Amino acid sequence: MHIMRQLFSFWRLTYALKKQQERLNNRNIKSLLNPSWEKKIQAYSVIETDCDLKGDPAYLGRGLYIGNSTLIYNTSSIGDFCSISSGVKIGLAAHPKHMLSTSPLFYSSGRGLINDSDILTGVEKMVEIGHDVLISANVLILEGVKIGTGAIIGAGAVVVKNVEPYTIVAGVPAKVIGKRFSDDVIQHLLNSKWWELDIQNILQLPFLKDASKIEFNR
Ligand SMILES: CC(C)(COP(=O)(O)OP(=O)(O)OC[C@H]1O[C@@H](n2cnc3c(N)ncnc32)[C@H](O)[C@@H]1OP(=O)(O)O)[C@@H](O)C(=O)NCCC(=O)NCCS
Repeated sequence: MHIMRQLFSFWRLTYALKKQQERLNNRNIKSLLNPSWEKKIQAYSVIETDCDLKGDPAYLGRGLYIGNSTLIYNTSSIGDFCSISSGVKIGLAAHPKHMLSTSPLFYSSGRGLINDSDILTGVEKMVEIGHDVLISANVLILEGVKIGTGAIIGAGAVVVKNVEPYTIVAGVPAKVIGKRFSDDVIQHLLNSKWWELDIQNILQLPFLKDASKIEFNR
């Protein structure tokens, strides 16, 4: 009986994924999306298997990559051309520290013990991810953190504070280990907003393969 149930849910998932793939023809999506993510996911995006992507982000950029078994909660936006590796957890909410118990059983109606009126009121702290951000394998990003455009988060990092644009952070808790480019180049890239260009124009950019070669008109 147990095997039959497993087979049935496997078949149901496969069917739902097939239908979703038909709706999202130029995107390679191997996890089942909620309606909000499905509506917003853009061209050139790839989402690998077993991802749990929750909520209703205001913006999901073009060319989004999400690796296997990644969880994304409480996230208001993910910019263009972001790469989020496997086993990443983003926007996990803190449990209250001031209550008798930290268990959601006593503050969330979702667990069935209390009524809606008893829900702990508080503003959700949303994660914001800029454009062209690389989040490496097994990173954990706490709720409310802002990751600047062009940032790189090293594998296994626990990010508890905002990360500046084009900054590389790693470790637990994550600390700055470097910058991708000089301050001049970073400012130029941020001003250029290259990620807003048409994909064909991006492919023609002379510094696509080495952004440090950008020349400045001084
Ligand atoms: C973050 C990363 C890009 C850093 O690369 P880098 O800028 O070339 O940094 P370096 O290798 O020169 O290391 C600089 C310092 O940071 C440390 N460091 C690098 N990556 C680290 C990490 N993930 N966690 C903790 N410390 C790290 C190094 O030990 C070194 O410390 P030291 O100066 O005390 O010797 C890289 O280490 C990394 O994590 N890559 C991700 C791999 C991955 O997940 N790929 C899948 C993507 S889909």
